[in-house]
Amino acid sequence: MPISNTMAKAINAQVGREFGAHFQYLEIASHFHDDGLPQMGAFFDQQAAEEHEHAMRFLQYVRDSGAKVAIPAIPAPKAAYKSSKEAVALALKWEQEVTAHINDLVDLAIKENDHATRVMLNWFVTEQVEELDTMGELLQIVERAGEPNMLLVEEHVRRKAAAEFGAGN
Ligand SMILES: [Fe+2]
Ligand SMILES: [Fe+2]
Repeated sequence: MPISNTMAKAINAQVGREFGAHFQYLEIASHFHDDGLPQMGAFFDQQAAEEHEHAMRFLQYVRDSGAKVAIPAIPAPKAAYKSSKEAVALALKWEQEVTAHINDLVDLAIKENDHATRVMLNWFVTEQVEELDTMGELLQIVERAGEPNMLLVEEHVRRKAAAEFGAGN
């Protein structure tokens, strides 16, 4: 059964927001690479790649549902940051907004008795819990270290990435 036009429109809008996050994180990654903080840069490059995957996951769902893919205009990301804290705080704000939009999509799926979409969205509901936790923790660490001590944050991010890859260093 195809999804409703309302649902197709709402999911296409979300495709745009995920691509928007992809671009925003590429800008934030570039800020850190330019600022001599390559671990932070690599972290946001990785986040950007994940947002691209999210966009593709939604886009594929629109295709699978027999609806028409219609990617909206993507606003230009913010390209200048005064501090590490400002960049990470913006990322957290993005994740909070995306979480609210995903919850709205779930509300719409429930309202429309659209079980297939609701089940598809479950993955994103769980993913957002992790995204909010990761970004909230990073902001806390950046604030605790303070701008002159960002190399400590670099070390933290490097160790965390290494642990995730099981490198053990
Ligand atoms: Fe996302
Ligand atoms: Fe995200």
